[in-house]
Amino acid sequence: MAKATLVIDRSAFVTRINRRIFGSFVEHLGRCVYDGIYEPDHATANEDGFRADVIELVKELGTTTIRYPGGNFVSGYRWEDGIGPRDQRPVRRDLAWHSLETNQVGIDEFARWAKLTGSEIMMAVNLGTRGVLEALDLLEYANHPSGTRLSDLRIANGAEDPYDIRMWCLGNEMDGPWQVGAMSADDYGKLAARTAAAMKMAQKDLELVVCGSSGSMMPTFGEWERVVLEHAYDHVDYVSCHAYYQERGGDLGSYLASSLDMEYFISTVVATADHVKHKKRSDKTIQLSFDEWNIWYLDEHRESDEVSETEWPIAPRQLEDVYSVADAVVLGNLLITLLKHHDRVTSASLAQLVNVIAPIMTEPGGDVWRQTTFFPFSVTSRMARGSVIRPSIDSDRYDTAFYGEADVVDSVATVDDDGTASVFLVNRSTSEPATITIDVRDLGVNRVTETQLLHDDDVYAKNTLAQQQRVRLRSIEDVTLDGGILTVTLPPVSWAAVGLE
Ligand code: AHR
Repeated sequence: MAKATLVIDRSAFVTRINRRIFGSFVEHLGRCVYDGIYEPDHATANEDGFRADVIELVKELGTTTIRYPGGNFVSGYRWEDGIGPRDQRPVRRDLAWHSLETNQVGIDEFARWAKLTGSEIMMAVNLGTRGVLEALDLLEYANHPSGTRLSDLRIANGAEDPYDIRMWCLGNEMDGPWQVGAMSADDYGKLAARTAAAMKMAQKDLELVVCGSSGSMMPTFGEWERVVLEHAYDHVDYVSCHAYYQERGGDLGSYLASSLDMEYFISTVVATADHVKHKKRSDKTIQLSFDEWNIWYLDEHRESDEVSETEWPIAPRQLEDVYSVADAVVLGNLLITLLKHHDRVTSASLAQLVNVIAPIMTEPGGDVWRQTTFFPFSVTSRMARGSVIRPSIDSDRYDTAFYGEADVVDSVATVDDDGTASVFLVNRSTSEPATITIDVRDLGVNRVTETQLLHDDDVYAKNTLAQQQRVRLRSIEDVTLDGGILTVTLPPVSWAAVGLE
């Protein structure tokens, strides 16, 4: 039996929760948009062609900000192809994913979909193959009230009110050689600075995200952020972080400690951004937008991901990872990590939302279902309220091949103004249950209101089209709260949430 002792004390306050930490991402990639959120022939489709059953699950998932329309896709995208009468929209090649883009969904349809799901749009502009002028045009179309060519065009296309999009990404993963129009940090930093300055001349209250690194394994990681921020610091508000994790070589122990890489990623980017801040004697502190994070089996070869050089399919089945219980436990732990660093990571997007490395899966003409990763996200989004508290953790430790020693137990807590609190926990042990003793006396709580446990004796159990409810949440069997001491026993490879009042 592994052991951990935690203290949750309000003095370890991190920050008030900004709902943007529960964002997600919709890219024109594979079946995320087409045959995902949009399927005009589906029995539940609305007048725009969006599936109502998918909208319901998106609401249940509890996502907030949605990044759109890419991703690698955005670096070849002409936003104006996606407006106006649908039968006149051009079909184009998308070089990033080697498929055809029909443009049947564009900014106007997506804004209507976002409204139905209660989401805020985080819009990306194309800085791979386009520049300042096209970014300004899109901004005018989206946000200018009326009386200009592009705002009047939006009104003519049916949107009387501006979309008032505040968060804008200045391109995507411009450090990646795979990016259409990838460039050096120096070139990108200058372009991003010019674009950001111009966008803020048009609208001061925009929140602009400059591209950071595509992962901590990038050879330019750290230096990329420094160079880009030295050019763009005064004009931007966020620097982006992207990270994907997967189990490699059957090493489940290392995989379960993936959040240690996320911790390293965050602290490196914070240090770099603050270095530039002090060098510039700036009053402004740059925030982190972790706008792509998830589990992604990038190293796994799947036939469906193969693209022949001669074929240009429409909405092929790409990146359709099927997630296990272990994947969901890691995802829950990554969310714990984002919350622990929420004072600097003030926006995040689970990449992606539907079908493409996604918590929600659909079948054309058929069902929609929840992947295992749906559960820790939806529960955390619902139960994390008020302020984040970082618990002090004294845990048994274990050896990992990738990260050295790691705590068996990780945790974060939230406390709301109404006296309720939530504790999120993970047991990373692959073989032992963990008994976790948590001192919650400072919170003044005396009742456990709810427990949620994600665990299965088969850590590789998955939900599929044939078995959509194979993995579900359960309640924790072994939990007590006595004299301000909460004691919880969690099975190996599990994620859990406990509600208190
Ligand atoms: O989310 C899938 C892809 O991962 C995105 O298009 C890209 O930005 C990243 O490399």
